[in-house]
Amino acid sequence: MTQTALSEWRRQHVPLYNRNRMKLGVFGMNVSGGGTISRAPTSFEASFEHNLAIAQHAEDAGFEFLVPFGRWKSFGGETAYNGHCMEVYTWAAALAARTERIMLFATSHVGTVHPLFAAKQGATIDHISRGRWGLNVVCGWYTPEMEMFGATQLPHDERYARAGEWVEVIKRLWQDNHFDHHGQYFDVKDAYLEPKPVQQPHPVIVNAGVSEAGREFSARHVDFNFITMDSLDTAATLAADVRGRARAYGRDIGVLGNGFCLVRDTEAEARAALEAIVAAGDWGAAHNIMRVLGIESDSFNAQIEQFARRFVVGWGGYLICGTPEQVVDQFIGLARAGVEGMALIWQDYAVEIPYFKDRVLPLMRQAGLRV
Ligand SMILES: Cc1cc2nc3c(=O)[nH]c(=O)nc-3n(C[C@H](O)[C@H](O)[C@H](O)COP(=O)(O)O)c2cc1C
Repeated sequence: MTQTALSEWRRQHVPLYNRNRMKLGVFGMNVSGGGTISRAPTSFEASFEHNLAIAQHAEDAGFEFLVPFGRWKSFGGETAYNGHCMEVYTWAAALAARTERIMLFATSHVGTVHPLFAAKQGATIDHISRGRWGLNVVCGWYTPEMEMFGATQLPHDERYARAGEWVEVIKRLWQDNHFDHHGQYFDVKDAYLEPKPVQQPHPVIVNAGVSEAGREFSARHVDFNFITMDSLDTAATLAADVRGRARAYGRDIGVLGNGFCLVRDTEAEARAALEAIVAAGDWGAAHNIMRVLGIESDSFNAQIEQFARRFVVGWGGYLICGTPEQVVDQFIGLARAGVEGMALIWQDYAVEIPYFKDRVLPLMRQAGLRV
C-alpha cells in the first residue's frame, strides 16, 4: 500500500483519524477514584460493570477512544487512591467484545511486558475489536510499582531508549516473521507472530512524553503525543514542538491533550461543583504523587498548593469547566492551538457523559469541531 492509501485506510477505519477536529476520549476510568483525587460524592466505581456502562455511554455519544491508567499500586491517602486497578490489556479485550465503534487503548508499562507478549496481546485485541485497539506506551515513573516486578528503575532518559527498542520490536512483529533481534534490552530469536493486527500499517501507538527525551521518543516512534499544558499558549508551543520534531524524522504526528471536564447549566453551579471536589480532596494521596514526581520539596508554599489542587481535580490535566457554551469556547481554543483531541476525566463519568452528549455536543457540531 502507498503512504496515501494507508492514510486513507486509517481515516476510514480508525476513529482517531476521522475528520472530527476535536476528538473525544475518556481517561482513567479503570482505577478507583478515576482521575479525581477526592472524596466528593459520585456514582463512579472501578468495577467492570460500571466501566462497561461508561464505555457504552461514550460510544453512544460518538466519542473516539477510551484510555485506561496503567496502574499497579495505590498512591495511599485516605482513599487508597488508585489502589483498585484493572489490568489494561484484559480490560481492553473485555470492552472490545462489548462495544462496536469506540477505540480501546492499553496503557502498557514497557518494563512489565516482553515486546513479543505485548505485540501478541495487542494483535489479539485488535482482532477482537475488529481494528479498534491502540497502545499507550508508558515508561513507569512510579518506582514502587516498577520495583514490584523485581526490576531496578532505569535513569529517566534511558527508560525512553528502552521504550524505543521495545516499540520497534513490536512494530516489526506486527509486520514481519522470521527475523532475529538482538538489541541492548531485548532478544528475539526467529520471531513469529500471527495473526498480524487488523490495523494497517499497525495499531495506533500513543505516548505522553513531556520531557525532551519523552518528546523525542514520541517524534520518532508513535502516532500521537499527549502534551501536558496549563494554558493555550503552552499548548500551541508544545504542539508545534512535537510536530516539528516528528518532521525532522520524516514523520507526521498527531497531538492530543488530557483534561478534567466539568459542565453545568450555569457558571455558578460549575464553580460550586469544582469547589466541592477540592474541599473533599484527598490531599495525602495528591501530595504522595507530587512527591514521587519530584514536584514537592519539604517546604509547602502557595505554588505547591496550587499544583496539588490541579492534581486533585484531574491529575494535573487541563481544566475544562463552565457552561456548555463556555466549554465549547475552550475546546475551540484548544483546537486552534493545534490539539486534535482530548482524553477527559469526569468526576462522575456515567452521569456527566450523557449530559455532555445532550448539552455540549450539539454546540461542538455547530462550532464545526465535530460532525
Ligand atoms: C495523558 C497521560 C496519560 C498517562 N498515563 C500514565 C499511566 O497510565 N501510567 C503511568 O505510569 N504514567 C502515565 N503517564 C505519565 C507519562 O508516561 C509520563 O511519565 C509523563 O507524562 C512525564 O513525561 P516524561 O517522562 O517525558 O517526563 C501519563 C501521562 C499523561 C499526560
